[in-house]
Amino acid sequence: MTSETSRPEPKRLFIKTYGCQMNVYDSERMRDVLRPLGYQPVETADNADLVVLNTCHIREKATEKVYSELGQIKKMKEAAGGRMTIAVAGCVAQAEGAEIMRRQPAVDLVLGPQAYHKLPEMVARASRAVGERLETEFETLEKFDALPKTREADGPTAFLSVQEGCDKFCTFCVVPYTRGAELSRPVDDIIFEARNLAAQGVREISLLGQNVNAWHGAAPTLRQAQGEGSQAEWGLGQLVRHIAKIGGIDRIRYTTSHPRDMDDDLIAAHGDTEAMMPFLHLPVQSGSNTILKAMNRGHTAEHYLDIMRKMREAQPDIALASDFIVGFPGESDKDFEDTMNLVREVNYAIAYSFKYSPRPGTPAADMFGHVPDDVATERLHALQALLWEQQRAFNASKIGQTIPVLVTGKGRLDGQMHGRSPWQQAVHFDAPASTYGQIVNVKIVGATLNALAGELAHAVEAA
Ligand code: 5AD
Ligand code: SF4
Repeated sequence: MTSETSRPEPKRLFIKTYGCQMNVYDSERMRDVLRPLGYQPVETADNADLVVLNTCHIREKATEKVYSELGQIKKMKEAAGGRMTIAVAGCVAQAEGAEIMRRQPAVDLVLGPQAYHKLPEMVARASRAVGERLETEFETLEKFDALPKTREADGPTAFLSVQEGCDKFCTFCVVPYTRGAELSRPVDDIIFEARNLAAQGVREISLLGQNVNAWHGAAPTLRQAQGEGSQAEWGLGQLVRHIAKIGGIDRIRYTTSHPRDMDDDLIAAHGDTEAMMPFLHLPVQSGSNTILKAMNRGHTAEHYLDIMRKMREAQPDIALASDFIVGFPGESDKDFEDTMNLVREVNYAIAYSFKYSPRPGTPAADMFGHVPDDVATERLHALQALLWEQQRAFNASKIGQTIPVLVTGKGRLDGQMHGRSPWQQAVHFDAPASTYGQIVNVKIVGATLNALAGELAHAVEAA
């Protein structure tokens, strides 16, 4: 029973999140599991009772950056007379384990991405027995089962994690080692959480997973599934159609996908489900079949282009997005030209490009054919110039159109609001604050590389 007097003392929680949307989601869940212990989020680390660094291992020197950040936080802990619990979570925690505590004695807790549900217990123990230092065993357990199913929504958009882990073992990537094997969350749990978010006013749900389109699950029951395809096993397309039926959910997105798991039913869902937003982030990494093979991607450039063609058939206005790596070991001028040609053929709305950097322990780190840094930099610049040209043109193509925008917050200037277009572009426009959380029609009058500017077409909800 909860009463005024049994409420825990308010405590200050600071979480710093690095890296991908999975980490953003995990940080939200950590806030949720810690709320019952009285932890309230604060904006800065100084004076916090609990500081969590939710780390990412994908970028170069990620580990060193975490140690340097920990050095700063240690000083704050000393200034607070030691009254601060420091936790390191996420993929660096998974990779480094107890080594973190050895190198930085101020750290109290280390926990991997599968162990957030244990956080309250670990924090309680660490603050009861000051000096007791804890680490998780990093076992891959069904973390989805152990997390609370209800969450506090924070605005009209929300992430919903449906899948974890990766079995693809691309030769450059640490994720299969840090996030473990692919795991799909059960349908009932996802629907429960989606309904709960909808009840709190969420209108746009982004389904998350390292390989989100590898998601699969048993249909809830045959009876419930009737009319929605009665096959016993659902893929992501079926899940999206089901979530689209929840009252209040107008927009559904999913990220990030792998070409090998892009099945025809998911592509069809882009054509037959109104709530499915016209956006697909499908990383290809390279346009050269030689490099794709060396990367162990399990698909060719032709297969990828075929998927993109089918996507455009299913949803003609779709915005296509990707990730690229240049300078992978053995990449020749011709391989790089294949990448540029693929980009020209697809014509992206947005894409992220990276210079290859070796991750210790991954197969590519031991490959021959090192590409000199100046060559890789030159390729990166050429690729980025082409991608930015396409991104600018995509954004500019919306000028003159009146588009539905989900209003997500106040703009920087007085009287301004911002929101998101169906194609995931940021849109800025003058509007009353009362439009927050609505989908309004906005006439686009300007476009830059990263945003659209518009004018409110009318102040009422768009159809
Ligand atoms: N070097 C450069 N980029 C990488 N990525 C993943 N691992 C590496 C690496 N070792 C990029 C990929 C991936 C994105 C999240 O980060 O493009 O899709
Ligand atoms: Fe890494 Fe490849 Fe898995 Fe993506 S699909 S997380 S790049 S191993």
